[in-house]
Amino acid sequence: MLDLRSKFPDYYQYHGRNISKKLSLSNVRILNDYYSKYSLDKKILNISSKTSTEQLLQSNLFKKVIIEVGFGDGEHLIESALSNPKVLFVGSEVYVNGVAKVLKQILEKDIKNIRLCGMNFVYLLNILNQNSIDELKIINPDPWHKKRHFKRRLVNLENIIKIIGIVKNKYASYITTDSESYFNYINEIFSSNSKIIHENKNKILSKNDRLYGVSRYQRKAIKNGKKIYQLTF
Ligand SMILES: C[S@@+](CC[C@H](N)C(=O)[O-])C[C@H]1O[C@@H](n2cnc3c(N)ncnc32)[C@H](O)[C@@H]1O
Repeated sequence: MLDLRSKFPDYYQYHGRNISKKLSLSNVRILNDYYSKYSLDKKILNISSKTSTEQLLQSNLFKKVIIEVGFGDGEHLIESALSNPKVLFVGSEVYVNGVAKVLKQILEKDIKNIRLCGMNFVYLLNILNQNSIDELKIINPDPWHKKRHFKRRLVNLENIIKIIGIVKNKYASYITTDSESYFNYINEIFSSNSKIIHENKNKILSKNDRLYGVSRYQRKAIKNGKKIYQLTF
């Protein structure tokens, strides 16, 4: 992964942190020795128009394919993969420390139903076939609070339209956020583009909801008294 990042920096570019602290030697070793076995990055770099999403993901033996974008330290991704062995989970994350952490757990727990993508998610999104994914989740994307940074937000009109294209069913794409501003921003995209984005709903999550409290970032927000908004489309 580290070699790909230096050879193809555009694919890994992102406005936030890519590596927050120096990677430990053991994480560098794990990434160098095992990342290519579980990752889609090389295949994405060499993809041809003939490669189907099923071939890219090697998903033919699985019942469903679920994507989690920006998995952070991977807690929800690992937990989901362990509880649903017949489902293939594709984890997208640009934060190298998070990728290394997940890779370590994949090896320790011998997890066979996770594929990783360390590139900026848009490169994965751009090459997936229409109606090829069963579910997509973005758990608390970076909020980018300042108005001048709104253009950095991952959930924008262009990406929503692409997500609607790749996800098979309605109401199978989920975004959670503790930012009321981001929630309003996405709702505004939905309502001003109602001819393209027909079906969507939203709610404030509570304890019994499936995606409530599933990640460290989300739990920290809950502890600080924030509401968790969920948008579904
Ligand atoms: C606020 S954190 C939330 C992490 C995790 N979902 C959680 O709730 O703990 C957002 C994560 O999304 C990742 N991210 C942001 N933009 C991304 C992109 N374009 N492609 C892949 N990952 C991205 C960041 O590196 C970061 O780890």
